[in-house]
Amino acid sequence: MTTTASSNIQTGQPAAQKVPLGATVNIPPRRLDFQFDEKTAKRYFYADDPFLSAFWITLSTLFPEGEDFFVQAVRHYRKDITDPTLKAQVAGFIGQEAMHSKEHEAWNELGQKFGYPTHRLDKSLGKLLGAVKKYTPKIFQLSATVSLEHYTAIIAEQLLRDESHRELADPETLKLWLWHALEENEHKTVAYDVYETVSGNYLLRAGTMIPVTVIFFAVIGVFQAQMLASDKQLFNIRNNWKGFKYLFGRKGLFAQLVPQYLDFFKPGFHPSQHDTEALLDEWREKLFGADGTLTAQYEQANQRKGKKTH
Ligand SMILES: [Fe+2]
Ligand SMILES: [Fe+2]
Repeated sequence: MTTTASSNIQTGQPAAQKVPLGATVNIPPRRLDFQFDEKTAKRYFYADDPFLSAFWITLSTLFPEGEDFFVQAVRHYRKDITDPTLKAQVAGFIGQEAMHSKEHEAWNELGQKFGYPTHRLDKSLGKLLGAVKKYTPKIFQLSATVSLEHYTAIIAEQLLRDESHRELADPETLKLWLWHALEENEHKTVAYDVYETVSGNYLLRAGTMIPVTVIFFAVIGVFQAQMLASDKQLFNIRNNWKGFKYLFGRKGLFAQLVPQYLDFFKPGFHPSQHDTEALLDEWREKLFGADGTLTAQYEQANQRKGKKTH
């Protein structure tokens, strides 16, 4: 479904051109067609470090199946949404997550070429989520999506805010993560608002976060170990411990997120309470503005798509 809009800062498209429904509520799906070449890409793209680079590859391996699960969970309740704004937001959410799956598949393919078992782990996660889809109620699946969208929103916000964090990453690879981080915050209220519309049960929402957290980190741990093993780094204990502390130590990246994580358990919590509006304006301009680092790539990807569909 498409409509017209006069604004072009988020879409990069000329005014009055047909734009996706999600773009009318600031949740535009953006095609970017990232190309990763193993001859030029950095294997240890984060801090030149095997442990931390494997960690982000692990996280990326969760996205294609994980975000497809989110889309299905939300799509199931689409028919129950009558509010036109939320309907448009749901369209934007589905479009953005579909693009994330596609672009992370491209990056995971690079990981596979570097010797990481991204294909096998993607399949394992698919089986796990397949069992969740088969054996749990739809409302639990939506509630789990709300929990994981909270994780992605706060991890993404940290990347957009923390310059020292970004400085450790290879600038080329970082573009993929910045684009994803921007869009995670653009659509961070959508699954939550769908849940509030169709259920709103606080105990289910808060209660789901506990097993989701346990399973999320268990999967990351198991996948990370396999990434390191494939890279012959599993017994590089000293470096692995250093990397672990960087992520989970007292001042680690995840420790810094604990207050925002805990906000989720407040009965009156809403994702918009973590105000990222100014941050999003800043990053939309940096990535997709007149001199944006992804503006040309975005336009080229859309031209290619336009040629294919005409
Ligand atoms: Fe995403
Ligand atoms: Fe998301």
